[in-house]
Amino acid sequence: MSLLQNKSVLIVGLGLIGGSVARGLRSGGLCRAIYACGRDERPLQQAQADGVIDEWSTDLKSIAVKADVILICVPTLTVRRVFEDLKGVVSDTTILTDAASVKGSVVEDFQAVFGNECGQFVPAHPIAGSEQTGYLASNTKLFMGRKVILTPLANTDRTALLVVTQLWQALGALVNEMHVDTHDAVLAATSHLPHLLAFSLVNTLAHEKQTEDIFRYAAGGFAGFTRIASSDPVMWRDIFLANGPATVAVLDAYVQELGSMRDAIVAGDGDLLRSRFQSAKDARDSFVRKHFSNGNGVETYGHSNQIVPAQKVVPVLTIDGPGGSGKGTISARIAQTLGWHYLDSGALYRLLGLAARRAGVSTGDEALLLPLIERMRIRFGPDQGAIWLDDEEVSSELRTETSGAAASEVAVHPAVRQALLELQHDFRQMPGLVADGRDMGTVVFPDAQLKIYLTASVEERANRRYKQLIAKGIDVNLSDLFVDITARDERDSSRAASPLRPADDALLIDTTEIGIEQVVALVLDLIRQRYLST
Ligand code: C5P
Repeated sequence: MSLLQNKSVLIVGLGLIGGSVARGLRSGGLCRAIYACGRDERPLQQAQADGVIDEWSTDLKSIAVKADVILICVPTLTVRRVFEDLKGVVSDTTILTDAASVKGSVVEDFQAVFGNECGQFVPAHPIAGSEQTGYLASNTKLFMGRKVILTPLANTDRTALLVVTQLWQALGALVNEMHVDTHDAVLAATSHLPHLLAFSLVNTLAHEKQTEDIFRYAAGGFAGFTRIASSDPVMWRDIFLANGPATVAVLDAYVQELGSMRDAIVAGDGDLLRSRFQSAKDARDSFVRKHFSNGNGVETYGHSNQIVPAQKVVPVLTIDGPGGSGKGTISARIAQTLGWHYLDSGALYRLLGLAARRAGVSTGDEALLLPLIERMRIRFGPDQGAIWLDDEEVSSELRTETSGAAASEVAVHPAVRQALLELQHDFRQMPGLVADGRDMGTVVFPDAQLKIYLTASVEERANRRYKQLIAKGIDVNLSDLFVDITARDERDSSRAASPLRPADDALLIDTTEIGIEQVVALVLDLIRQRYLST
């Protein structure tokens, strides 16, 4: 059950973001009660009439005492005043979070008011704005598939972090974590600068004599590029005041680039212009291909916002272990939370097993398996669920026990493992990779920064598998599963090539008696310590 379920949530500032959170929470029945607070009574009354909130007040102190979680959705520079009003009113266990677009200044404000020790604040930034504003523009699905960046501090309370993560995930968002400074630098470049350019382009053109014509005939590029100039002026004033140094740094670089384009135009230097345009096109095309294509070469940019860690080396987290140890679920969950790529290496062996069966090739015939690897056309869906082999969706077929057994038979051949190595290395891309398998930490990514090895008793693993299959309506026998799993363990551990074993520097976690949530929280904590709190 979600930790949010029995909590009451107070939203301070019921505009586009706050209103959309309230609507999403209400329509999903995600928490016990929803309260709202703001200066203007009209949206509050409207929200209550809509059944979106249970109670409202324009007096923050009186309503804050009732809340377990307080989400502050006011302009960045107003957040401090809200903290000041809440100080001394909220209890030690009340979770505070926000939705401001700049995180450094908000964290400073929090620490100035509550002190450096308090760990109840979880800074958050939903990247889901719109040029529309106000409660009336809010909608239930605003956060579906959008990124929410959390910038927890070294002392942020783990439960508070989990509650806020679950809140955004329940609204359909993809939650990433980032160091607060990285967030502000990345957002200065990807969001703040473009807004500044849109505002200034519209201002420039609005003063031209032929303004009416410009706007009347404006289409495509102009309309798209300047759409964000219709955004809320107060919100954007605050963002530039709060994130001044980071935005000025990227603005200076931009002005310099613009200056060199201007010089080239004045000098009639077509070669230079063409080469600058070409380099921009190449950079963007390769960036889109790498991070925002759905596997069919179709651009998905604009639907998601990838995050970039501070490190130059692409970070890898390896999660190895036997089948049923929970590594698949845990790895996918961690990859989703961090916005990292996910490699399900077992799926590659399962795909080869399936391709072999379809081609009538024996799983024991190493020489005939190799050309099959060359020929297989594999595609993974964006959300770690769907897998295609030669244009056919084979996800369900891959998960059967027969496919698992065939996978472990093809996986014993050293040449097969070698042939699949490069494919696995290709998954290592920014902003990071979670790799799950048997030999991720020992052979495929021996230089991974963090290695986990999950185990669980055979009984427990057979039990988990049994429940999974029964839930899918597949008729199985528990004792047969026990025998299959033991045989697969034996084959995986005793083979000469890359046997199943923990890397020397792996952290061992026995999941027999602990839940998925706890392991995910523990591993995220380790990653945070390693990457995000430096
Ligand atoms: O993890 P999954 O159950 O999908 O893996 C299926 C089989 O593929 C394993 O039993 C193992 O034999 C093989 N495998 C492997 N090396 C990996 C991942 C899976 O040998 N890295």
